[in-house]
Amino acid sequence: MLVLPKGIRHIPGLLARDDQEALLADIRQVVADSPLFTPVMPRSGQPMSVRMTNCGSLGWVTDKERGYRYQPTHPFTNRPWPAIPDRLLKLWEDYSGCDLAPEACLVNYYGPEAKMGLHQDRDEKELSAPVLSISLGDACLFRVGGLRREERTVSFRLESGDLVLIGGESRLAFHGVDRIYPGTSALLKAPGRINLTLRRVNPSSV
Ligand code: SIN
Ligand code: FE2
Repeated sequence: MLVLPKGIRHIPGLLARDDQEALLADIRQVVADSPLFTPVMPRSGQPMSVRMTNCGSLGWVTDKERGYRYQPTHPFTNRPWPAIPDRLLKLWEDYSGCDLAPEACLVNYYGPEAKMGLHQDRDEKELSAPVLSISLGDACLFRVGGLRREERTVSFRLESGDLVLIGGESRLAFHGVDRIYPGTSALLKAPGRINLTLRRVNPSSV
């Protein structure tokens, strides 16, 4: 049996096909309002292989000059991000174990060749909240380890409709996506995968 690091929770098949389709329709609206863009790494300017957008009062962005950060507007349209769909807010309420509302939902689109290197999600100031992830479309090989890059990692498949929580003592765990398995889901019109991550960025203001 695969033993996940403490604080990592994987709920396979949480969303039934109908729910996945409804969520996908919500995300298509988000993308229509707030187009996917190609993020680039700080300093090197190297493009990432995923394309991304956000919804929520804040969105995660990166560019060559200013690096990783959260900001209230889309970097190309300069408009505010659209609201987080109710369906996602409900999942956060039910599964995050956090009383604070999520402020950001990062939408990552992986084409068949895209991947994401091992990294920590550490641009948030409020680390008591987990990162809540939902996968749609083709399966991927997800990898998660410890708080240091050198630590042992475990890898497992994430399928369409799966939920993952990255929280507790694994909130700053290194994680990444090694590969996509094209053709493993018929949810999207073309091969590829969408990952949604809900995040609380700032501590409560009260
Ligand atoms: C991420 O780490 O931001 C994305 C994880 C995933 O695609 O499952
Ligand atoms: Fe991440």
